[in-house]
Amino acid sequence: MLKTEAIDVESIRKDFPILRRKIHGKRLVYLDNAATTQKPQSVIDALVRFYSDYNSNVHRSVHTLGEEATVAYEGAREKVARFVGGTAKGLVFVRGTTEATNLVRFAWGDKNVKRGDVIVSTLMEHHSNIVPWQLLARSKGATLKFVGLQADGTLDMGSFEDLLKASPRLVAVTHCSNVLGTINDVATICLKARKAGAVTLVDGAQSVPHLPVDLREVGADFYAFSGHKMLGPTGIGALLAKKSMLEEMEPFQGGGEMIREVFPDHATWNDVPYKFEAGTVSIADAIGLGAAVDYLSSIGMDKVRKHEILLLQYALDALSKVKGFHPYGPEDLRERGGVISFNLADVHPHDLATILDEEGVAIRSGHHCAQLLMRWLDVAATSRASFQVYNSFDDVDALKAGLEKAGRIFKL
Ligand SMILES: Cc1ncc(COP(=O)(O)O)c(C=O)c1O
Repeated sequence: MLKTEAIDVESIRKDFPILRRKIHGKRLVYLDNAATTQKPQSVIDALVRFYSDYNSNVHRSVHTLGEEATVAYEGAREKVARFVGGTAKGLVFVRGTTEATNLVRFAWGDKNVKRGDVIVSTLMEHHSNIVPWQLLARSKGATLKFVGLQADGTLDMGSFEDLLKASPRLVAVTHCSNVLGTINDVATICLKARKAGAVTLVDGAQSVPHLPVDLREVGADFYAFSGHKMLGPTGIGALLAKKSMLEEMEPFQGGGEMIREVFPDHATWNDVPYKFEAGTVSIADAIGLGAAVDYLSSIGMDKVRKHEILLLQYALDALSKVKGFHPYGPEDLRERGGVISFNLADVHPHDLATILDEEGVAIRSGHHCAQLLMRWLDVAATSRASFQVYNSFDDVDALKAGLEKAGRIFKL
C-alpha cells in the first residue's frame, strides 16, 4: 500500500537512488526528514552537470563557462524566490536557516537593537532561532522573552499579546515546529507584531519543504529556510526580505563581490542581494536547490501537504495501538506538519533509535536542538519520525513493527 490519494510514492521512490540501499539487510525506511532529506536523481545530476560541464565562478568572468554558471546561479535564485512567492532581488543565498538568522543578527540587529529593547521568540524554537538573539541581546543590553505554549503544543497567543505590550523590536517565530509539528499562524503573528512596531522573522526550515508557502500571505520582514531539508543539497538556503529592508541593512561579511568600490579607509557596497553574498558562493548547491524546487513543483506542494496529512493520520492511528506510545504535539492535523515526536514508555530514545536501525528504520532521537521545548515537555529527549514525499504507509508499518519489537525487548 504505497499510493496515497495525493501522490504516487512508488514512482517517486524510483527517483531517489539512496532508497535502494539496504540497512542491516533490510529496506531503508528513512524517517529522519526533519534533520535532512534525501536527494532525487535530478538534484544529484544538477550538481554533477555543473562540475562536469560548466564549473566556473559567477559574476566575474566573461568567458563562456563564467556566463553559463552565472545564468544558472541567477536562474536558481529566480526559481527559489518564485517557489515561495518572493522576489529574486529579495533573496540572499545563505548556507541555511542558521546562517540566515545570524545574518539578521549582525546585519540588521547590530544597527537596530538598542539597550533596553525587547526581543520576542517562543519556547518551541530551534536553537538557531534562539541563540543568535541571546547573543544579540547580550551584546546590546536588550532582553529576550519567550511566548509560552498551551498544553496541546500550540502557541499561547495570550502570552504573545502580553509580550507585544512591551513594544518588542523583533519577533522571531517558527512557521512549523521541528519537534511538535505545530504549524503557527504566522500571518496573524506577523500582522500583530508589525502593529506593535516589531520587525518579524519567520523560520521556514520545516514549512517550505512540506506546505505551500506564499510570503505575500505570511507578511514577515525576514523569512529563512534550508535547502537540504527540501530535497536540495547541504550548504545552501535562503533568506528572503523586502529589497528596501535589505538595502537599509549593513553588510554581514566583508570580502569580494559584496563591494562596489574599495578605498584605503572605506568601501561602498554592491546592490542587494549581492551585498550579502561575500566571497565565492555555493554555486553548485544553489543550482541544486533550483532542481529540488523543480522536483517539488512538479509534484505540487498542495499534494505534498495532503500526502503528509494522510500519513500523519495513518501513523497516529497505527502507533497509538503500540503499548507505551506517547506522542507530543497538536491533535488537530490541520495545525500539524509531518512530524511525530514521541516517547515509548521510559525507553531511552537513543536505545529506541538503535533498535529501529537494526530494522532499517532511521528516526532521530535526542533534544532536536530545542532544549527550551524539552524542558517545557519535561523530558530529556524524544524520538522523532518525520515524513517526505517518498514515505508511505509501509514505512509507518515498519516503524510500528520496530516499536513493537522494542516493546518486547523492554518488556513493556
Ligand atoms: C525549525 C528549524 N529551524 C532551523 C533549523 C536549522 O537549520 P540548518 O541546520 O539547516 O541551518 C532546523 C534544523 O533542524 C529546524 O528544524
